[in-house]
Amino acid sequence: MNNNKIYIFDTTLRDGEQVPGCQLSTPEKIEIAKSLELLGVDIIEAGFPVSSPGDFQSVVEISKAVKNPTVCALTRAVENDIKVAAEALKYANHPRIHTGIGASDYHIRHKFSSTREDVIERGVRATKYAKSFVEDVEFYCEDAGRADNEFLAKMVEAVIAAGATVVNIPDTTGYCLPTEYGAKIKYLFENVSNIHKAIISCHCHNDLGMATANTLAGIQNGARQVEVTMNGIGERAGNTSLEEIAMILQTHKELPFHTNINSKRIYHLSLLVSKLMRMPVQPNKAIVGRNAFAHSSGIHQDGVLKHRENYEIMDPEDVGIAQNSIVLTARSGKAALKFHLERLGYKDLTREEMIPIYEAFLEMADSKKDLNDEDLILLMEGEVKEQPIEVEFVQVLCGDAVSAVATIDLKINGEIYRRAANGNGPVNAAYRAIDKIVGEKLVVEEYLVQSMNGSRDSGKVHVRIRRGEQCYQGFGVDEDIVVASVKSYINAINKFPLNFRTKIEKEEYLQAAKVSI
Ligand code: KIV
Ligand code: ZN
Repeated sequence: MNNNKIYIFDTTLRDGEQVPGCQLSTPEKIEIAKSLELLGVDIIEAGFPVSSPGDFQSVVEISKAVKNPTVCALTRAVENDIKVAAEALKYANHPRIHTGIGASDYHIRHKFSSTREDVIERGVRATKYAKSFVEDVEFYCEDAGRADNEFLAKMVEAVIAAGATVVNIPDTTGYCLPTEYGAKIKYLFENVSNIHKAIISCHCHNDLGMATANTLAGIQNGARQVEVTMNGIGERAGNTSLEEIAMILQTHKELPFHTNINSKRIYHLSLLVSKLMRMPVQPNKAIVGRNAFAHSSGIHQDGVLKHRENYEIMDPEDVGIAQNSIVLTARSGKAALKFHLERLGYKDLTREEMIPIYEAFLEMADSKKDLNDEDLILLMEGEVKEQPIEVEFVQVLCGDAVSAVATIDLKINGEIYRRAANGNGPVNAAYRAIDKIVGEKLVVEEYLVQSMNGSRDSGKVHVRIRRGEQCYQGFGVDEDIVVASVKSYINAINKFPLNFRTKIEKEEYLQAAKVSI
């Protein structure tokens, strides 16, 4: 084994997918998994098979779809979970079962109402059982970040003796300081007699913004696997971000570590994950944020033009951001548009499909000078993708002298529905009118409006709405931000389960809102 190779374990499709509103369909997961393979990740955590039939199926299909990476499935230290995971992995070239149990006294006492001895025994039993199905078994010591080091060392030693090939030391709550997490890994290397028989893995959460720093501290103290997600998405404040670890190790040449990541594919994958998960990347996100390589102050611009390295430590092209990425204008032809859409993952568009896309593109290009990658994604997601509920008409009256009132027409399964509502502002009124049409009171959890790349001519809106326990995200683009707001709301509603729309059709009272055309 090459001692300085850092194994990249991507958990975008498992820990990342646990983010409310970011759930993916199986074909979407396959698309991301194939892209992760091209990026060069070593292990793909494809899901938690026992948790749902959808997760089970995704693990099966990803196992069939990728060739080189290890495909990993999560379980609790429960026999049935492990059996189901093994079944889901049966087509994988390199299968791995990832099982484990709580290691901190919080988890032992308050989650399992158990004892330290008992959880070790359960962990050992689970490892041996997993070994009866696959050779490669990873064990996670959940909440290791807050676990007593002496006890943790006993647990790690016991599961390695039981056959674990990788042991994961998660900072589940994102609590550790980098020095503390690094010292924990060092302690394990000094106090676990059989530690060299396994790879030690870092799995850090970002609750205090220290996930990347902690993961790096883990590597510097002997860990050789890192568990990461694209764009750092994941439960709560997220997980360690893949692109940050990959680029730290690539940029700091004095560090002796290397990965198998083809950094030029990073940006593409970031866009793909953001698009499919409907999770915008914060503009100042390291490596992949819109502003990560933008220099706005005159002094910086001047400095970069004189010598790029005056202000840039990485070449944007190394992460796949083409410097001349402003590529399309209203004068661009269909072939150029198709080329760039394919580059962004919109493959195999037919001549017929390209017609409405090109029309929408020309409309957008008319209101903006240059279109970049982000615009093209918004174009495809907001404007062109067939939406079962469509916005037909939006009218608002607002201002400081009147109470805002909105009238909205939606086309649902070919029929037009109209409702009007008041609100304390135009967007509120429009959303209330939509709620009346769909017969639900939805909760807006997040609402974000931004200009399209600094232009005053059009806006994009991102909204997150809650329906019961479930959250849904939507995007909308328009020259008018109220219309963009309506489009984003409908874009999110279009992700509700299918039976929701059938319900709309059946509701008697909606007949009153129907407009005859
Ligand atoms: O954060 C965590 O502890 C986890 C484990 C299930 C690996 O995600
Ligand atoms: Zn986690």
